[in-house]
Amino acid sequence: MTHTDDLAARAPLATLRPGRISPMRTVPEHIERPEYMFHSGPEVVTASDIKDAKTVEKIRRAGKLAAQALEVVGAAIAPGVTSDELDRIGHDFLIAHNAYPSCLGYQGFPKSLCTSINEVICHGIPDDRPLQEGDIINVDITAYLDGVHGDTCAMFGVGNIDEESRLLIERTKEALRRGIQAVRPGREINVIGRVIERYAKRFGYGVVRDYTGHGVGEAFHSGLIIPHYDAAPAYSTLMEPGMVFTIEPMLTLGAIEWEQWEDNWTVVTVDRSRSAQFEHTIVVTEEGAQILTLA
Ligand code: MF3
Ligand code: CO
Ligand code: CO
Repeated sequence: MTHTDDLAARAPLATLRPGRISPMRTVPEHIERPEYMFHSGPEVVTASDIKDAKTVEKIRRAGKLAAQALEVVGAAIAPGVTSDELDRIGHDFLIAHNAYPSCLGYQGFPKSLCTSINEVICHGIPDDRPLQEGDIINVDITAYLDGVHGDTCAMFGVGNIDEESRLLIERTKEALRRGIQAVRPGREINVIGRVIERYAKRFGYGVVRDYTGHGVGEAFHSGLIIPHYDAAPAYSTLMEPGMVFTIEPMLTLGAIEWEQWEDNWTVVTVDRSRSAQFEHTIVVTEEGAQILTLA
């Protein structure tokens, strides 16, 4: 292998800089807002994490819309396109389908989607930086429809990407698949993270611990926590049919330690190594899990 080939195979280390954030987008009056838009501070929703069949169907509808928005946004990703433009596309898709973009105004988050590029682990704010060939970007979309949230995210490469980043993305998607496969009623929640961490460790990837999956439905983040690492004997709650939560592993090429930009949102790896994430909202069934965020 030549020196040049070797460089092309490795993920670049670069430092992303905050860009300019456009004004908050508007949502037509007829679209129902989540309760956190009516007061300051954390969400206040009291609902069980075990949903009845009717609620599961509502979450499936919200989840499907979020997944469709993710496809539409993903199709627009190319060198030169800004994450603000992706935010506009996702926002317009959701409001055109009468859904509220759950991120917009959530604990003060200023945009409708999260766009997390390269070393950003999660919660990147869409801005005016044009995407560059070789970037990797996570787009995280949550739709609020008919009183419930559906939450999903995926990774996209911008033009040609290096092999190390390509593999990180492929294996993070596989880690999510394995986490979902591990879901069974009667098993402890911590089984999910055990399976994800064991798989990620094969490749020496970092498994982010401080951001987790969560119960979702009437609440965006219900308080139920789904770790992506082996947390046993903690998080021993038993999974039950009807339980709805997200699984959303974040894997890194290096450290899992993180710091936050001065915007109080953007979470980056301290060593600036790249990070990837995929997310689905799932419901626990008698047989295992069903994904509620399919397009
Ligand atoms: N969708 C993210 C999650 O998976 C949460 C984003 S909250 C925001 O939990 F405020 F940053 F939008
Ligand atoms: Co989530
Ligand atoms: Co999400």
